[in-house]
Amino acid sequence: MTADPIHPHPAWLPPDAFRPLGSRRTMVRGSGTLVETVRHEVREACVQHGGRLLDNAAEGRVDLTLALTTGGDGTLGAEGYSLARRDGVTVVRADEPAGLLYGLFHVVRLGESAFGVDRPAEAHRPALERRMLDHWDNVDVHPVMGQVERGYSGSSIFWRDGGLREDLSRVRAYARLLAACGVNAVAVNNVNVHATEARLLTERLGDVAAIAGLLRPYGIRVHLSVSFAAPVTVGGLPTADPLDEAVRTWWAATTRRVYETIPDFGGYVVKADSEGQPGPFTYGRSHVDGANLLAEALAPHGGVVRWRAFVYNHRQDWRDRSTDRARAAFDHFAPLDGQFRDNAILQVKYGPMDFQTREPVSPVIAAMPATRLAVELQVTQEYTGQQRHVCYLGPMWSEVLGFGLWGPDGPSVADVAADAATGGGLVAVSNVGDDRFWAGHPLAQANLYAFGRLAWAPRLDPRTVLDEWIDLTFAPSATADPERLRRTLHALMDGSWRTYEWYTAPLGVGFMVRPGHHYGPDVDGYEYTPCGTYHFADRDGVGVDRTRASGTGFTGQYPQPWADVYESLERCPDELLLFFHNVPYGHVLHDGSTVIQHIYDTHFAGAEEVARMLPLWERLAGLVDPGLYARVRDRLDEQLRCAEEWRDQVNTYFFRKSGVPDALGRHIY
Ligand code: GCU
Repeated sequence: MTADPIHPHPAWLPPDAFRPLGSRRTMVRGSGTLVETVRHEVREACVQHGGRLLDNAAEGRVDLTLALTTGGDGTLGAEGYSLARRDGVTVVRADEPAGLLYGLFHVVRLGESAFGVDRPAEAHRPALERRMLDHWDNVDVHPVMGQVERGYSGSSIFWRDGGLREDLSRVRAYARLLAACGVNAVAVNNVNVHATEARLLTERLGDVAAIAGLLRPYGIRVHLSVSFAAPVTVGGLPTADPLDEAVRTWWAATTRRVYETIPDFGGYVVKADSEGQPGPFTYGRSHVDGANLLAEALAPHGGVVRWRAFVYNHRQDWRDRSTDRARAAFDHFAPLDGQFRDNAILQVKYGPMDFQTREPVSPVIAAMPATRLAVELQVTQEYTGQQRHVCYLGPMWSEVLGFGLWGPDGPSVADVAADAATGGGLVAVSNVGDDRFWAGHPLAQANLYAFGRLAWAPRLDPRTVLDEWIDLTFAPSATADPERLRRTLHALMDGSWRTYEWYTAPLGVGFMVRPGHHYGPDVDGYEYTPCGTYHFADRDGVGVDRTRASGTGFTGQYPQPWADVYESLERCPDELLLFFHNVPYGHVLHDGSTVIQHIYDTHFAGAEEVARMLPLWERLAGLVDPGLYARVRDRLDEQLRCAEEWRDQVNTYFFRKSGVPDALGRHIY
């Protein structure tokens, strides 16, 4: 359980998590790279815990068999597995090697209960085929964004000071952690592709191949973020026009070389015509022209292009209230539905703005039934406390994934992402760096774990996912009081997203963060900027009028019933009220409170909640690794300081704007 800078914290795969398996007699049947990984894992566990990896059945009693079924009916698919226990033997079967690897980690997750009473065979298959993490890592240290853009966990595990790291042992350990929670794809560089990073596609492809070699044994395919301007900047052509013959030839040849070097390469991620990145607009071409150009180059090799839908005018005039950033992705992409090639995936952020603590689900997700869509989340906590605050995001993602796009009972976001014909899966920005706890905040490891598990099984209860994470990370066999630990971690984490929401921007209005680094409060920080992220607070009220009746018309981008629910002041959910409406401070919410009183109440309550966290954590002194204990303790101090700062700035701001005193007479400055 101890972690030092040389030996990173084992996260959810400490040796103790392997005790139940490693102390038994296991047989592995099958061949191939991933089956060898399974053998390796079992062998290592047995070395630790005294069990045995058997070569054949003649060696006597078997407790666990992990077998590739030859000539099975194929119903388990490429990644599925089945698990049963009968007559004292646990049997995991898979049709393909990846399934066996996931089955192995399922046994680890089950712990002793994998070897308890008999279990009828149960089949497990991932709901979503593509479960990906994007790294916003730079090869060169960027003068503003550093080695990892929006990274809060130290440096990159892949890159350092302009090149590939010499010691890549963290990459292998990372691959293992990802396989254990079900992630099967990784992009190794920032979507903002700078000069050196553009060359990963060509001269520096060997670096990417080295990473691919470490990810492959764990069933993870490597992807690259590429620059749309690469034919010019890297290829020396005069243009990157997607309809130019020489440009097409260049992409085809370049992509062919990529596959010669990395045969299982996953594909490209592209941020085009977005926040200053190059794209097809330069040549008067469309996103379809751009995406299909790359899709065509990748198609012969089975690769995909992931084209990001995060496109908006980042040089907006704040004086112009008719332009609405929330509308942008739909306005750009919905008319293009049905025109993208089959191996082009449109990658859509879950909300219409930008990874805020609370946003409505993006209307793009319901608007493009004839396009392959992936939904993008942010594990890195850019807007949710930057891994200095405890903010377990499982509940938020679970809400997003379960959202009924055409009403509560209809198909959900997860259903669209999972659709066999048009689903593009789930993807998230990673929160990992070379920090000894991987994620800066040790408890933020749970977010990475939860992302993988929810991508595999979107209907899992986030509290169950948290239990899994707790049992693996703090293996009961190595913990003096597992029940106290579990209770305390639930008390700290279950409601932490809601708590964070309480003390930051109110009622879905978003932002109010310090411009640039996005940490801590600054209510008007973005109010008079070109970024399109405003709250419009004045002496009368606050919020963005996005109605069809009197506002930007954004509500009209939703299908029914949401178009009318969000349009209506009465029916709009409180937590999204200020995203859709500009209301007076005296407007009464569903719970009977006014908007202004709600702002005061939640900000006081949020900071109080954080103040309760530190003593809770202190009860775990001696129960967890001292280094981990100390790190969390330090971060809780900072969380409390920051929550109080948020509380006081937001409350003071709205008190001064509105002149309305707090009904409970608490201190506002
Ligand atoms: C956010 C983030 C940027 C990032 C962008 C993106 O705006 O602040 O750092 O580049 O999202 O998703 O492309």
